[in-house]
Amino acid sequence: MGSLPHPDLRLPILILLLSLTPLTSSAPDYDAEELLRSANEDKEWLVSVRRRIHEHPELRFQEHNTSALIRAQLDVLGVPYSFPYGGTGVVAQVGSGEPPVIALRADMDALPLQELVDWEHKSKNDGVMHGCGHDAHVAMLLGAAKLLNQRQSKIKGTVRLIFQPAEEGGAGASHMIKDGVLDGVEAIFGMHVDYQVPTGSIESHPGPTQAAVCFFEAKIEGKAGEAAKPHLNVDPLVAASFAILSMQQLISREDDPLHSQVLSVTYVKGGSSFDETPPFVEFGGTLRSITTEGLHRLQRRVKEVVEGQAAVHQCKALVNMLEEDFPFYPAVVNDAGLHDHVQQVGALLLGRDKVKMGKKIMAGEDFAFYQQLIPGIIFATGIKNESAGSVYPAHSPYFFIDEDVLPIGAALHTAIAELYLNQHSS
Ligand SMILES: *[C@@H]1O[C@H](CO)[C@@H](O)[C@H](O)[C@H]1NC(C)=O
Ligand SMILES: *[C@@H]1O[C@H](CO)[C@@H](O)[C@H](O)[C@H]1NC(C)=O
Ligand SMILES: [Zn+2]
Ligand SMILES: [Zn+2]
Repeated sequence: MGSLPHPDLRLPILILLLSLTPLTSSAPDYDAEELLRSANEDKEWLVSVRRRIHEHPELRFQEHNTSALIRAQLDVLGVPYSFPYGGTGVVAQVGSGEPPVIALRADMDALPLQELVDWEHKSKNDGVMHGCGHDAHVAMLLGAAKLLNQRQSKIKGTVRLIFQPAEEGGAGASHMIKDGVLDGVEAIFGMHVDYQVPTGSIESHPGPTQAAVCFFEAKIEGKAGEAAKPHLNVDPLVAASFAILSMQQLISREDDPLHSQVLSVTYVKGGSSFDETPPFVEFGGTLRSITTEGLHRLQRRVKEVVEGQAAVHQCKALVNMLEEDFPFYPAVVNDAGLHDHVQQVGALLLGRDKVKMGKKIMAGEDFAFYQQLIPGIIFATGIKNESAGSVYPAHSPYFFIDEDVLPIGAALHTAIAELYLNQHSS
């Protein structure tokens, strides 16, 4: 006790130490300039890889050529990998092979979308497009494989590079997990390009950040008949109308207003005649919640409300949560400590003014499956650049990438991994 400073001095000293800790402990002599320079030297290669993938987009679980391209590039780089994981997935590894082991993740699949951007490297596969930037994600992770491999001596542990299939509705992450991709991994990082964040900037958000998502369809069955004699029929249209309206109250009356949920009915199909009530009506849509538990509750209540309203109108209802075709995605919950790490590394590499607090969104992301098992974070990497034309949202047929992001993303992956291992190796 005798060696403690005078009580009056303890608080000022503590504040001084706390204010110094983040910078000094994250990177006593980390050469960010040198890393960015190396990444920029690879730009031409990164751009060519990304364009090749962009021209040959493949849908979920069909990423055969993309996977082969990744393996061929890893062969050239001399980076060892395992294949297959989760069907077409590839898992490369750099470092000592010893713990700590951390993972960096890229998704590989494209969307069922016709590209409407007219440019030299437009999709050559009709009706399929890299409209979510996963082509850039693959290129940036290959870029990190190259940088990390060149900098082996700086890696105090092991970095696993995960190239996964089927982020778009296929829950590819859960297939990778079943095949053991997280074995021994203590933390996982992912990045997603973002058209609202300027190129050269990043944003991350701690805690619940992206929604748990599912899709549903419902069928309400009545009894068809002449519209002039409604008393002899059972009208599913009126029942469906009540059901759809009643479901709205699940958000406005049953959910905490400070919690976020979405219930959108996106189609209604039923009937084809002016003078006959139809035998059944079908409708469907999506349910979202910023918590996984919230979505489970919403699913249960949607079923009860649709079945209940059908019964009120003497109809029968079938509600299907479509788990087979569109697996339930849990909510993305970013680890607060990893969020701090990403913010610090971002500031070191890109500058303090280039790192902002991210926003919550109600889009799903299968990165959430990894986060159910180990701490993880997925953050936004900017691609917004008006002169490059990269100002369209993901899943738009006009979606376009500012390729300046490629070396930035490769360097970010690399620094995030190296600095995490520096701080966590014993
Ligand atoms: C995959 O590559 C093969 C061989 O080059 C080619 O014939 C095929 O069209 C490619 N598939 C897609 C979806 O691009
Ligand atoms: C924006 O795009 C233009 C044209 O492609 C490019 O010259 C410029 O470097 C980009 N800006 C940033 C900040 O990356
Ligand atoms: Zn997407
Ligand atoms: Zn995506």
